[in-house]
Amino acid sequence: MKDEYVLGIESSCDETSASILLNGKEILSNVISTQIATHIQYGGVMPEIASRLHLENIGFVLKECFEKAKIDPSQLTCVAVTGKPGLIGALHIGCLAAKTISAYYNIPIINVHHLAGHIYANEFAGDFKFPLLAIVASGGNSELVYMKDHLNFKIIGETLDDAIGESLDKVARELGLPYPGGVAIDKLTKDHNIETFKLSKVKASGFNLSYSGLKSSLIRDIRARKEKGELDEEMVKKYAFSVEKAFVDQLLDKALLAAEKYQVKQIIMGGGVSANSYLREQILARGGKKYEILIPPLWCTTDNAAMIAKIGYRMYKNGIRDSLDFSPKASEELGYR
Ligand code: KG4
Repeated sequence: MKDEYVLGIESSCDETSASILLNGKEILSNVISTQIATHIQYGGVMPEIASRLHLENIGFVLKECFEKAKIDPSQLTCVAVTGKPGLIGALHIGCLAAKTISAYYNIPIINVHHLAGHIYANEFAGDFKFPLLAIVASGGNSELVYMKDHLNFKIIGETLDDAIGESLDKVARELGLPYPGGVAIDKLTKDHNIETFKLSKVKASGFNLSYSGLKSSLIRDIRARKEKGELDEEMVKKYAFSVEKAFVDQLLDKALLAAEKYQVKQIIMGGGVSANSYLREQILARGGKKYEILIPPLWCTTDNAAMIAKIGYRMYKNGIRDSLDFSPKASEELGYR
């Protein structure tokens, strides 16, 4: 069989990344240039600055990606790029680069949904067993996705308001922790043996989730403590674990209910929050006896182009091709592809 090389490109938020995957399995290179150090000063991602940095970096990232993989662009089989959803200016940069390569080398281009990429990051850890339930938990998304087959995504539950990652980040910011707050909370609460506040259970219909009510009430509470001079180190830690536990427990309660109802064989996870150590521990503890659990490798939980190349290869093999005139989209639901 002739070797097949997929170039993946990712630029939907604050990471510029390019990767080359050989025959859908072997990662020859996965170059990631992160902008976190810049956005940290603003306490969150600044879209205009993100676009400018993608534009500055994309050329270098691609160059390094080909050098590390030791292949020439003329050897590429196809190019897969994140075209949705994300910061629109940021998406444009990756899509423009991908379209140029596709046109110049006359190879197919494949427009990948970012969340589908996060789901397929799990394939670097093992094979999918259908039907499965995917928990997608990131800065901008909290979704439960049912898959009865490859590339067949059905959202069966989602947040009715804010996403889990951004809610964690906002509470963390109030606690004086650095951006990204979810990472800071995870570091601070590593031993998971911390006393928590008693918080009321969130009510959301069906398999849906809700984070904004709890987030706002915790923020109000933290502010009041600050005013009274009661927010010492121990108190910060107690709030940090309380919010992490409440958010993750809600996600897992709903995921396990959905897994039961849909009789899935496997539960998988994806997105930035799937790096969370409490979530990784609890999914195994609570679901591990009944379901096969697949967890993406830690390196593959943050945005990267290897996961885009991974799903890109599968889409290519399934005959999916996009036209050079597709437009990136800031938002689009995950659906069948
Ligand atoms: O998927 P992702 O990299 O991109 C966006 O959706 O923007 O997710 C970023 C989110 C942030 O909210 C960050 O705080 C959270 O993932 N995150 C974590 C951890 N690592 C990243 N949250 C909890 N624990 C972690 N270890």
